[in-house]
Amino acid sequence: EKDGYDWFMRKEIFEQPRAVTDALLGRHSETGRLQLDEVRISEDELREVDRIVIIGCGTANYSGLVAKYAVEHWTRVPCEVELAHEFRYRDPILTRNTLVVAISQSGETADTLMAIRHAREQNAKVLAICNTNGSTIPRESDAVIYTHAGPEIAVASTKGFITQMIACYLLGLYLAQVRGTMYGDEIAAVVDELRRIPGHVEGELAKAEEVYALARDLSAAPAVLFLGRHAGFPIALEGALKLKELAYIHAEGFAAGELKHGPIALVEDGLPIFCIVPPRGRDQLHAKMLSAIQEVRARGARTIVLAEEGDTEVGSYADTVLSLPRVPTLLQPLVAVVPLQLFGCELATLLGNDVDQPRNLAKSVTVE
Ligand code: M6R
Repeated sequence: EKDGYDWFMRKEIFEQPRAVTDALLGRHSETGRLQLDEVRISEDELREVDRIVIIGCGTANYSGLVAKYAVEHWTRVPCEVELAHEFRYRDPILTRNTLVVAISQSGETADTLMAIRHAREQNAKVLAICNTNGSTIPRESDAVIYTHAGPEIAVASTKGFITQMIACYLLGLYLAQVRGTMYGDEIAAVVDELRRIPGHVEGELAKAEEVYALARDLSAAPAVLFLGRHAGFPIALEGALKLKELAYIHAEGFAAGELKHGPIALVEDGLPIFCIVPPRGRDQLHAKMLSAIQEVRARGARTIVLAEEGDTEVGSYADTVLSLPRVPTLLQPLVAVVPLQLFGCELATLLGNDVDQPRNLAKSVTVE
């Protein structure tokens, strides 16, 4: 069943171009107009939504963090992201105009399930983003967007994550369409960019050997840090989670702006730091990220810089450059996560760990 791959995880990483294609299928017209027929919440009700709260655990929480940047930018509706277990037990403020978006690959995560039950008791509307047809979370929600990634067997989420992000982007664009906060051609332009993602990911997978070589180089590292900013910040968290669960090494993700508020004290000679550089644009994100990289490098860090191809500025800050396809800043998480998944999978393989079934973990966490 592994189709010649050593692990389900590696197979699932390589299935991502197909998974993203399927996640987009039938959800937009040729002109880019969104059609999310499965969202059984009426357009009138969606226009009344005054707050979005995204909940999930682990990697699903990170796809929510990615979504916040796009959803708020496109819809101008305040959007909060919270761990489902924290949300459930703090008496959150919810009304009938709150849209709770529950993200879960399995659809069976107890923490998320308890949270949506609580939300519905308070009359909030609940929309599930889920990969498993007929599972409990979508059954107990008002609406569902299925991610169509196909069965995910490996404990570490990969194609589940990328398709959760796709579903979040589609939801954000759909809300913008319904509420009139974006023009039709702006929406169509983003849909076009999304349709290019499978090809981009394909190109990255063709260069997997570069990442594997890096994993061989870093196989003795006792700790690894990840730096990101803006939509790249949750990807830093995801890169670190992959190493924790698969390689059992100490790994942390930080927002680059936070460095001087504490984490920079961790930097010592030879510490590998993955740095996710936002695309060059009109904002200051790119320049700010480069200065963060400069700071850690000046303190001896070994920098592995993920930056869009053609970004000639990063060369002088990087010990290794992994180039990413050119995409808009808000969509960069879709392509930035791929090398980090490959790295985690390969490093754990080199360390002799069970990649598909890491110690102490279960694929679906059905107890609180
Ligand atoms: O099935 P879910 O998406 O609800 O699972 C949530 C987390 O348990 C899950 O993402 C976990 O963090 C993965 N092992 C990450 O790779």
